[in-house]
Amino acid sequence: MWFGVVTLFPEIFTALQSGITGRAIEEKLIHIACFNPRDYTQNKYRNVDDRPYGGGPGMIMMTQPLRDAIHTAKESAPASPAVIYLSPQGKMFNQKTAEEWITKKNIVFVAGRYEGIDERILQTEIDEEWSIGNYVLSGGEFAALVMIDAMTRLLPDALGHKDSAAKDSLSSGLLKYPQYTRPEVLEGLAVPDVLLSGNHAAIERWRLKQSLGKTWLKRPDLLQEKKLTKDELNLLMEFVEEQKNGKCNSSN
Ligand code: ADE
Repeated sequence: MWFGVVTLFPEIFTALQSGITGRAIEEKLIHIACFNPRDYTQNKYRNVDDRPYGGGPGMIMMTQPLRDAIHTAKESAPASPAVIYLSPQGKMFNQKTAEEWITKKNIVFVAGRYEGIDERILQTEIDEEWSIGNYVLSGGEFAALVMIDAMTRLLPDALGHKDSAAKDSLSSGLLKYPQYTRPEVLEGLAVPDVLLSGNHAAIERWRLKQSLGKTWLKRPDLLQEKKLTKDELNLLMEFVEEQKNGKCNSSN
């Protein structure tokens, strides 16, 4: 995938050079190109902010350098990109969005700073406005980082283990089952027996039951969006029964 990012702070995107995204860059699964409006300024002081018409506090991103940076980003994309503005006023990004967007191949993210961007740039340059949550960040950069990371791990070959992404929390609309590593007993808490049994079918079933149960306990809203099969419903009922009987760390 090709990501263009229009940002006054390109150094923030060096964070993507670590871990899974770093390997994806090295292996050319993703390419990230930053376009800094400051490089497109035509004024002596390289200003990138401007006063809002009508007065009021704060500054707006200066239109000319921002437009020029967006135009260059669009022209640099290997094919016509989707242009996305990051803002708390946008639609809410989630796992499903990430899954849909990896089919887009080329995306330009426009990260606003100050009090935002001129409304006419939104109208003429931006295809969609997206948010990562109901809070206000200092700029769109961290939202773009989040989105790029969430998409990258879904790309075929991005994760070492072939089906790890399919087993991620939320990929099936459920939370991930509890996981354990050594030691077998930690602070008096034992790893559930089934995980030591070597019985793969039983382990899969236990994990599905735990995923259903964990989702029911922590994120019941997700279950409302998901249609459970009869088998899943039975497993969830078993989980609920076990909870009532106090078998919280059940191994069956
Ligand atoms: N810019 C500022 N706050 C934001 C948010 N919550 N999501 C996306 N972009 C933002």
